[in-house]
Amino acid sequence: MSIKELMRPAFAQLDGGLFSVTEKADVGDVQERMKEMGVAMMSWADPFMPDPSLPESVEKAAIQAIKSGAPAHYIMPIGSPDLKTLIAKRTKERFGIDLDPQRNIIINPGSDVGLMFAMAPWINPGDEVMVHDPSYGSNFLNAELLGGVTVRVPSYEEDGWHLRIEEYEKRLTDKTKMVLLTNPNNPTGVCYTKRELEELAAFCIKNDLVCVADQAFEDTVFDGAPMISMASIPGMWERTVTVCSASKGMALSGLRVGWIYANDVIMDVYYGSAVNMQGATSTLGQLAVMPAFEDDSFIADYMQKYDNRRKYAFDLFNSIPGVSMKMPEATFCIWINISGLGTSTEITKYLIEEARVNVNDGKFYGTMGQGHLRVVTGCFWNDSDCFAALDRMADALHRLAEKKHIGVR
Ligand SMILES: Cc1ncc(COP(=O)(O)O)c(C=O)c1O
Repeated sequence: MSIKELMRPAFAQLDGGLFSVTEKADVGDVQERMKEMGVAMMSWADPFMPDPSLPESVEKAAIQAIKSGAPAHYIMPIGSPDLKTLIAKRTKERFGIDLDPQRNIIINPGSDVGLMFAMAPWINPGDEVMVHDPSYGSNFLNAELLGGVTVRVPSYEEDGWHLRIEEYEKRLTDKTKMVLLTNPNNPTGVCYTKRELEELAAFCIKNDLVCVADQAFEDTVFDGAPMISMASIPGMWERTVTVCSASKGMALSGLRVGWIYANDVIMDVYYGSAVNMQGATSTLGQLAVMPAFEDDSFIADYMQKYDNRRKYAFDLFNSIPGVSMKMPEATFCIWINISGLGTSTEITKYLIEEARVNVNDGKFYGTMGQGHLRVVTGCFWNDSDCFAALDRMADALHRLAEKKHIGVR
């Protein structure tokens, strides 16, 4: 018997890139090899990568922390009380949600860990988790790894990738346990409106469902559009677990700091299982990140950069026959429809060869992602490096359109 047959099927089927070449962006050595070849990596949602971008206040706090000797030890598995106080203040200011720092917040090593932890207590074998499609790729797998079933709920380009509540209603069964909402959504760049959140909330309440809200990108909304936390919708505090991160808006992915907030009945379970499920978060990371919460005005400067880049990309890609993109409402990614030129797998490969740019094949973001590319415009510190890579992509796509005799729409 193969040793893998002893595993849970959802784990046994995984491909980690050790025995075959995997297309997944985060495992295997494909990415390393591409970097060596001078390929621009616009495939990691890691702001300003590969350039240095640590705010001075964070750098100072990290150095001070190291000098103090504190990072040799745990703070607490449930997180630094000082950091949780800062998070409570910010959550009140931004979303109007009152959090007791010692009862409603747990710190974790980034929101990937946070998402799995958030879901773990709820999923019995066969329980169904509704995940909108397209969505953050990892969010399709978590339920399956936990022994549950992922139910993909399509959203559509013609709706600007906003949600259709009837698609949720159609898929409701007596096994439905949870709705997983990524807001703002990576890869589509959509920030869901109050109205659609209210509709989804009513659906959750009526059918007694739990909502896990992945808000890793909550700080990246453009044009002052309202970013609403699902937990603030009446009736949802009772049943929502919100997962957040310092990785995206604050651009501090390497510190590995995320947090979950929920009501105290739910949080009691997370506190009770923290050591088993996530261990503790890095003491150094927690001490270093605090100044970013005390003064997060640097986020506005980052948003200015992302804003320039999305507008540049919008003009560039919409001028190419067979290619189109919508203006993202949030995130530092763009989501391009290239279905007029070929499949997303073909075009991803073509762009590595012809433009020396690596982007993400849309199929990794769900069935509805076929024919699309996700491009991280938030990489590189200098706008000019980002624009140069986008220009190379656009030139290559123009050439392909010409070769295929595809005219301007
Ligand atoms: C939507 C979304 N949620 C969560 C994460 C996880 O980020 P982290 O673990 O760095 O907080 C990512 C990372 O790309 C993401 O795109």
